[in-house]
Amino acid sequence: MKQFISVDDVPGVPRLVETALGYKKDPFKDRVLGAGKTLGMIFLNPSLRTRLSTQVAAKNLGMEVVVFNIDKEGWALEMTDGTVMSGNTTEHVKEAAAVMGQYFDIMAIRTFPGLKHKEEDYTEKYIKQFIKYAGVPIVSLESATLHPLQSLTDVITIREHWQEKRKPKVVMTWAPHVKALPQAVPNSFAQWINAWGEADFVITHPKGYELDHAFSGNAPIEYDQDKALEDADFVYVKNWSSYNDYGKITCTDSSWMISNEKLAKAPNAKVMHCLPVRRNVVIADEVLDGPQSIVIPQAGNRVWAAQAVLSEILKNS
Ligand code: CP
Repeated sequence: MKQFISVDDVPGVPRLVETALGYKKDPFKDRVLGAGKTLGMIFLNPSLRTRLSTQVAAKNLGMEVVVFNIDKEGWALEMTDGTVMSGNTTEHVKEAAAVMGQYFDIMAIRTFPGLKHKEEDYTEKYIKQFIKYAGVPIVSLESATLHPLQSLTDVITIREHWQEKRKPKVVMTWAPHVKALPQAVPNSFAQWINAWGEADFVITHPKGYELDHAFSGNAPIEYDQDKALEDADFVYVKNWSSYNDYGKITCTDSSWMISNEKLAKAPNAKVMHCLPVRRNVVIADEVLDGPQSIVIPQAGNRVWAAQAVLSEILKNS
C-alpha cells in the first residue's frame, strides 16, 4: 500500500482485516518493522481515538511518533495554489508539507470539511495538497469526505462479532444531532461495507439525507427507520448533515434517536458508533450502557486497524 486515503488504496479488504486481527492477537510481532522510522501526525482538527490509537499502533511497530496540532501551534496555512498571500495565511502548504516530508517517513493528516462549499470539500482539496507536496506516504486520519481508519475498524469489529455462515444484516441509521456534522463517517462506512461485500447493507435516514452515490452505491435506502431496523444484526448509528442541501440540518426529529424501544425490532443487534457520541440525543443511555452496545470494543479496534495500515505502508517502502 502506498497511501491510505480510501478503500480504493487497499488491495484486498478481507486480507487487511485479517492482518489487523493478527495484530490484536499478537501486538508486538512486528515490533522492529518500523524501527528507525518516524510517523508525523498532523492535526487541523480535534481527535481522541484516532490520535491515541494511531500513536499506540505506530509504537507497537517500533516507530517514533511526532504529533503536531498545526491548527493551534503552526503557522496559518494557505491551501490554494497561486494565491497572493496578502491576507491571514502565513505559510503555503507547498512549503509546509514539503518540509514536514523531510522530517517524517509517513505523514498522517486530519482535515475536516468546511461544510460550506461542497465542491471544495468533495474534491478533497486539503488532503490532496499534502499528498502533492509531502513526498512521503500519506495516511488519512479523517478527511473532508472519508474516514477510512474508522471504517476499517468497523469492518474488523463486524467480522469479529459475526460467526454465522449467512451474511449479517447491517443497518446504518441516521440519528439527530445539535450540530451540522460531516458526511465522512457514513460515506466511508458505506464505501467499505460495499467493497467488503460480506454484509446485507441497508441505509436509513429521513428524506433529504441521501449520501453521495459515489460512496453509497447500490445500497438500498429505507426511509422508515423501524422497518429498516427489523432483524438487524448490526445497527451503525451516525448523524450527518445533508449532502444535497449541503452542510445543513434539515431534520431534528428526535424520534430517530436509538433507544431500547427502537431496538425492540432488532433484539439481537449489536449497536455501533464511531464516537464521540452525544448521549440521549443520538443514542439513549440505556442503549450505550446496555448489553447491545459494542462501542467500546469497537473503539479499541482502532489500534489494530491503524497498525495493519501502517505495517502495509512500511512493508511497501
Ligand atoms: N471516531 C473518531 O475518529 O474519534 P476521534 O474524532 O476522537 O478521533
